[in-house]
Amino acid sequence: MVCEERNLTIEMLDENNVLFVQDIQKNCKELVWTSSSLFHLLNKGSGYGYILKSFNKYIGYILLRSLADEEEVLSLGVLNSNRRKGVASKLFYEFEKDVIRKNVKRIFLEVKVKNYSAICFYEFLGLKKIKVLKDYYKTDNGYENGLLLSKVYF
Ligand SMILES: CC(C)(COP(=O)(O)OP(=O)(O)OC[C@H]1O[C@@H](n2cnc3c(N)ncnc32)[C@H](O)[C@@H]1OP(=O)(O)O)[C@@H](O)C(=O)NCCC(=O)NCCS
Repeated sequence: MVCEERNLTIEMLDENNVLFVQDIQKNCKELVWTSSSLFHLLNKGSGYGYILKSFNKYIGYILLRSLADEEEVLSLGVLNSNRRKGVASKLFYEFEKDVIRKNVKRIFLEVKVKNYSAICFYEFLGLKKIKVLKDYYKTDNGYENGLLLSKVYF
């Protein structure tokens, strides 16, 4: 899919573009997935995802996993310099097309309670807080709570 303004193109993740996810994860200070875990996700883990390009540079990605009648957002990131321009929303709307097409009942994800930007973003897209996941994330000096967020479709 090509969007004329800013020359944005969304590609489905495959073996040719998946490793560009790592560069974006580094820039986002997100957990950087190993090459083998990315390939495993695409080939054996019911996983898929999208990556968004602007003028031949990859600037954002979303990693997803299909479960029985749910889908999980595993990871999402946009280069720092490209934020607040609707890039993550475009990736998320592409994902929502799959959700509708597959009749998925619910999507869910986990996020750090201190990740204000991501929580605002997900609430903007209609996700709701389901529960606090106590000490869910290991940090350098202990543990941090997570939040389980969800959106119901049907
Ligand atoms: C969260 C993240 C993916 C959002 O990407 P983005 O491309 O900037 O998001 P969008 O431009 O599509 O934002 C859509 C809306 O979400 C909300 N939003 C996004 N970032 C926000 C922020 N930092 N503060 C408040 N609201 C925010 C706003 O309502 C925004 O609309 P607006 O810009 O018109 O006000 C990006 O900040 C990021 O990559 N963060 C680091 C990685 C990360 O935390 N990933 C999530 C892990 S679960």
